[in-house]
Amino acid sequence: MKIIKQIDKIRAFSVEKKMQGKIIGFVPTMGFLHEGHLSLIDKAKKESDIVIVSIFVNPTQFAPNEDLEKYPRDFESDRKACELRGVDAIFYPDAKEYYYPDASTWVIENELSKGLCGASRPEHFRGVGTVVIKLFNSVLPDIAIFGEKDYQQVAVIKRIVRDLNFPVKILTGPIIRESDGLAMSSRNKYLSKTERENALSINKSLFAIKKALIEKKITIKDALKIIEDNITDSGGCIDYIKIVDAETLIEQNTFKNTIVIAVAVFFGKTRLIDNIIIERI
Ligand code: PAJ
Repeated sequence: MKIIKQIDKIRAFSVEKKMQGKIIGFVPTMGFLHEGHLSLIDKAKKESDIVIVSIFVNPTQFAPNEDLEKYPRDFESDRKACELRGVDAIFYPDAKEYYYPDASTWVIENELSKGLCGASRPEHFRGVGTVVIKLFNSVLPDIAIFGEKDYQQVAVIKRIVRDLNFPVKILTGPIIRESDGLAMSSRNKYLSKTERENALSINKSLFAIKKALIEKKITIKDALKIIEDNITDSGGCIDYIKIVDAETLIEQNTFKNTIVIAVAVFFGKTRLIDNIIIERI
């Protein structure tokens, strides 16, 4: 497995493989890899011939008051995990070199990125959009794989790729959860033991509400209220709980098409996100 820091070297690596007719699969990450990330690597292995993983804690998607400095990092453990999963190359750019100091160009999606996380983190998605396009231009993948854990992120990236005609096929993988149901996240490390236990109210309420909605026992309005009460009662401080159309991300009052219940909640200082997709049957 190669570890490559420079843009020209990762490009040359991909070009050489492409000349051999190989399909390049790419999994962008910010490192501190867990089974959620590794499930995307497994999918990339199935769907392509060469798998490249990027590890880059992207400064432009963090607001000044957020956790950029303390975001967990463990390159050695990530390197081992990638090697064990059969990754061909890790792209590991240097944070100080990857952006020009006077960079003045952004990739901004103007519709899907506005609500949900975009409402409370207004500059987050321009950071994500910009870095993902920079990474695509560095790695030159045929396929890129993203997790449904960040549902809005996938929607925004698909839209950018469509609107700018990027020749990259976007695939997704389902949310991978801990055995007790908490969605895996690099940020779970910040939680105290009590916060970790209390945070289970997120996934428990999402799963219970999914069942009740499918069985038509409750309305969308009831659903929102029940989730809010459950999470608040367990000490969570709600950033948002929204029920949106799975395609447009527009808020829904009725359950007509496939919907997503998306939540962002603080337990202590840690902001967790989770979601559940509910198909209309
Ligand atoms: P990061 O949070 O490291 O996540 C990298 C990828 O792993 C994303 O596609 C994310 O949705 C996926 N992922 C995280 N937790 C998951 C889980 N429990 N189950 C399934 N997939 C999961 O998302 C980012 O990094 C960044 O915004 C990035 C796209 C790399 C741009 O900087």
